[in-house]
Amino acid sequence: MSKSINRRNFLKHAGAATAVSTVFGVPSLLRGKNLNSKLQFAGIGANGKGWSDIKEMATHSAIVPVAFTDIDLTRMGNVKRLAPDARLYQDYRKMLDDMGDKIEAVTVSTPDHMHAYISLDVMRHGKHVYCQKPLTRTVWEARQVRKQAAKSKVITRMGNQIHSHTAYRTGVKLVQEGVIGKIKEVHSWVATTGHGRSGVVDRPENPPQIPTSINWDLWIGVAPMRPYGGERIYHPFAWRDWQDFGSGAIGDFGCHLLDPVFTALKINGGPNTIKAEHSGMNGEVWPAQETLFYSFPGTEYTADKTINITWYDGGRKPNAKLAHLPKDKGLPSSGSIFVGEKGSMVLPHVGMPTLNFIDSKAEYKIEPVEGLNHYHGWVDGCLSGKQPSDGFEYGGNLTEAVQLGNVAVFFPGEELKWDAENLKITNKAEANPYLTRKYRKGWEIKEVT
Ligand SMILES: NC(=O)c1ccc[n+]([C@@H]2O[C@H](COP(=O)([O-])OP(=O)(O)OC[C@H]3O[C@@H](n4cnc5c(N)ncnc54)[C@H](O)[C@@H]3O)[C@@H](O)[C@H]2O)c1
Repeated sequence: MSKSINRRNFLKHAGAATAVSTVFGVPSLLRGKNLNSKLQFAGIGANGKGWSDIKEMATHSAIVPVAFTDIDLTRMGNVKRLAPDARLYQDYRKMLDDMGDKIEAVTVSTPDHMHAYISLDVMRHGKHVYCQKPLTRTVWEARQVRKQAAKSKVITRMGNQIHSHTAYRTGVKLVQEGVIGKIKEVHSWVATTGHGRSGVVDRPENPPQIPTSINWDLWIGVAPMRPYGGERIYHPFAWRDWQDFGSGAIGDFGCHLLDPVFTALKINGGPNTIKAEHSGMNGEVWPAQETLFYSFPGTEYTADKTINITWYDGGRKPNAKLAHLPKDKGLPSSGSIFVGEKGSMVLPHVGMPTLNFIDSKAEYKIEPVEGLNHYHGWVDGCLSGKQPSDGFEYGGNLTEAVQLGNVAVFFPGEELKWDAENLKITNKAEANPYLTRKYRKGWEIKEVT
């Protein structure tokens, strides 16, 4: 378990800085909080990862849980035990209406297709947001969420707790210190496949009745209506497989594995090009196996003017030779290889990095970087007004790249040219509609201006 920023230490260190700390140019003290304040907290999505988010936030001494929302009443047991006095809702919109200023900070841990709709709404209400990865289901939504976070001036963080883990922080430091030289290419892979969790690849023909505990209309939200599929066809968990709701293996794990890549190389824009190869797909679920070829503009940490980053999932892996591994070692089941001018770094998901140099006599003693408590980092940010490094600007940019993969899979083998500034694929007009989605009536998302 990573060491948390102990609250007392945090206050000691932050105390002197309070008066000058700013968020987007707004002095934190003008935000009406002081560092001894409590933070009135609500969780949207009360089970699965939602429970883990709520439970971890609640270990911070400033957190006062005041309300929780889950569309499934059978999934409220944990939060009821945690905070018997907190108000419970099935519809987060009612929670926001009823509770008003009594809520200051919110976790959003629903399935991917509702992240943008809910996070945007919560930010428009002026509340701080911690939203699970991937930040949104589409590229266009990620851009809207970035813009709204800047506009609302709230404290945001993407739910990618391993951003703060000692292993990933150590990997980032090694790359940035140039231990393996400038980076020539990166390969990231995850063993997970894009479908298979529900056991089906088409909609069930005779779906059962919706259990009375579930508000199916609220679960569907922005997506086109379809019948409830039965336990674990869509809800809970198996929604990941389905194009209408989830984001496949790249969506599930891209924001995890590519996070140290983006952070280490300081990638703060989109790729120039992307190309997908995969094992085939229908119109319902994501491919079982994918390879995505990204080419990004180079940065101060790359050897060349561009850097190729290749993503593999569903059992596909890069050539192990790239890692210069000793004969008795193989690649981990999921991880990244950073190929540098002097050697390679293998960063397992989630494990300490190892270094393998081209010069077999070269050695380097790795000094681990201390881990931080990701959850407490956001709470401390909400109290101090200091935005963590991986807010919605960073998380939105990473999510745009990840979800661009879920556009490229519709055009396998074709290199798509990406104009990140104008949010446009410039050489394939038919690909542009896949950057966004058709919203169900009553659940439209307006462009943030
Ligand atoms: N950071 C991580 O390590 C990590 C791990 C697992 C999942 N996740 C992310 O967490 C999110 C949830 O994943 P999960 O596996 O817990 O899914 P899940 O389906 O198991 O749980 C989602 C919960 O949200 C509830 N819910 C669904 N729609 C809702 C809505 N509109 N309003 C309120 N509650 C709603 C469900 O009833 C359920 O309790 C996803 O975005 C996923 O990518 C992150």
